[in-house]
Amino acid sequence: MRAIRKAVKIFGFFICGFIVFLMFYLALTQKGSYYDDAKKEETKTKQISEEERKLSEFQKSAIEVKSASKLYISKCSACHSKNGRGIFDDKGDVVFPPIAAKPYEFILQRVYDYKEGRVANPLMITLLQTVSDENLKVLADEISKFEAQ
Ligand code: HEC
Repeated sequence: MRAIRKAVKIFGFFICGFIVFLMFYLALTQKGSYYDDAKKEETKTKQISEEERKLSEFQKSAIEVKSASKLYISKCSACHSKNGRGIFDDKGDVVFPPIAAKPYEFILQRVYDYKEGRVANPLMITLLQTVSDENLKVLADEISKFEAQ
């Protein structure tokens, strides 16, 4: 009789131990557990702060070029830079000439010359053919009012 009781007790302990183990195991490994959620939340916050940083950088650059129109930014700024002051290499040689604050007539004459192929400029000719004469006048007016260096 005693031996049977003892066996039942041991068996009971074993079952209890197993159940406790199982509970821990499931709590720690289950997907979507508390620990997982906390981790996900953390990476989410990281992503958001990264996006906020990018946004504020973008806003800063937008403030810098607030005087430039969308047309200028999309058509000319890639080469002549956001403020029209051109792009120079390490030695200070002109890569793309500055055009800011040049006289309206000069800018217009130049872009027409390029557009009509009177002055060969493989870089600008294809681009200028996508800009109407009307818009070129608007651009020339805008660029002539940019601040010079
Ligand atoms: C793909 C690059 C590129 C883009 C985009 C571009 N340009 Fe140019 N631009 C040049 C280069 C290169 C020269 C110099 C060409 C030369 O020396 O003959 C130049 C020269 C000029 C000049 C003459 C400057 C001078 O002092 O002689 C004017 C004005 C000008 N660009 C206006 C514009 C305008 C306005 C736009 C937008 C509609 C524009 N460019 C877009 C590359 C570009």
